[in-house]
Order: sequence, then structure tokens, then C-alpha cells
Amino acid sequence: MDLPSTPSNHSPGRLPVVAIDGGAASGKSTTAQALARMFHLLHVDTGSHYRALTHCLLQAKVAPEDEAAVNSALGKLSLGTRVDGHEARIEIDGHVFGDELRGEAINQAVSRFAALPAVRSFLLPYQRGLAGTAAGRGFRGLAMEGRDIGSVIFPDAPFRLFLEADPTTRARRRAGQGQTDTIGERDRLDSSRATAPLVRPPGATVIDTTHLTLGEVVEAAAEILRQGGLAPAAA
Ligand code: DC
Repeated sequence: MDLPSTPSNHSPGRLPVVAIDGGAASGKSTTAQALARMFHLLHVDTGSHYRALTHCLLQAKVAPEDEAAVNSALGKLSLGTRVDGHEARIEIDGHVFGDELRGEAINQAVSRFAALPAVRSFLLPYQRGLAGTAAGRGFRGLAMEGRDIGSVIFPDAPFRLFLEADPTTRARRRAGQGQTDTIGERDRLDSSRATAPLVRPPGATVIDTTHLTLGEVVEAAAEILRQGGLAPAAA
């Protein structure tokens, strides 16, 4: 099943969206968080949406192969958003998640659930709707990170960044965060799925973060936004 990738009236012209895509540990989160603070944007980590759903589906003992059970479990979940500072955090049935989303069980299962069209179409309207949440809360735009933001969620976003880094550097970053993560395997699954795979969106600006410090990555991304006419927020 293909998800709609045609331009919608969800973002540009109304509220600038900064779409930040890339593989695991490519530097997306640090960059998106920093840009959100610098430009007063609402930061959305869509990876946490897939992790939170995976957590709920695992708790409900639903297997990704059991399409009927996945659909039935999704139909019972209600999504909301809590805004903490510049951070939009997904709520499922009123619950906000923490470190439990970063554990090994979820690292291993999340790509399989994220490959399911039912899961992706469940999240799509929620993720697009966050532009309205940002506007309603007085933010100047969205800094949304993930795998399909510039290709599917906001294909008409005025700023589309794609972050890359070599596998050794990415594994070292995850180990430095004290996490065990099968980065290569997840990237393989995320890039090869049929629905909304991890791709470099046409026209996106690529930043290779391998030999850059995170500060340098943020500065490169911020410069792209300033060059594109987005003014930094007043200090
Ligand atoms: O960014 P992350 O490592 O927390 O993402 C967890 C998983 O969620 C990742 O393996 C793929 C999936 N994901 C996705 O399919 N689409 C997104 N927009 C974001 C994440």
C-alpha cells in the first residue's frame, strides 16, 4: 500500500516545517532539538511514535505478522500530545513514555512494526496534525525528525535535511549513549520496506556528519535555515 506523498496544505505557506531524515544514530535528534531551541520550533521525534506503538503492541502480545490483531489493537488506542518546552511527546491513552522506549526489546522489534502499512497510516494523520499543534501553541514551525518526513509526511516542507554518517561512527555514538542497538540491521529493514522506506528525498540537502562534531552539524543545519530566510528566535 502506498501512503499519500502528494503535497498537502499541512505546512508551507502556513508554518515552516524542517524535515530531518536519516538512519539510526546519524545525529538527527541532537540537530532537531538544537534547531527547535534556536528557531523556536516544536520538536517532534517520530521514531518515538513508532517506539511507543511498539511498546503497546508488545504489551498486548501482538505479533507484527498478525495483521488482524495489529489492526484490532491499534483501533483501541487513543493518541494525544504533551508539549514540554520545545518537545512534543506522544501520549497513548494518556500515558507519556520515558526510557522504556530505548530498551533492547523495542530496538529489535520496532522496524518490523514500522514496516506495516496499518501502523504507518495510523500515525500519518497524527504526525501531520502536529503542525496545527505547533501553530496553536505559538511555535514558529516544526522540526520533525524521522525516516519519511521529507518524502511522505511533509513532502512540501521548505527545509528538508538528510543526515548521513558511516556505520562505524554511528555504532560508536550509540555505544557512547550506553545503548545496544542493531543499527545496520534496522537500517536495512527501514530502507527495504515497501511502505515509506528510509530514502534520501529528492532535493533534500545532505549533511555527512561522519567527520563533524554535533556542534558543527547543528551549525551547518542552522546556516541552511538562515540562508532559507528563517530568522533565529530572539535570545
Ligand atoms: O529514530 P529511531 O531510531 O528512534 O526510530 C525507531 C524506528 O522507527 C526505526 O528503526 C524506524 C522507525 N521509524 C520509521 O519507520 N519512520 C519514521 N519516520 C521514524 C522512525
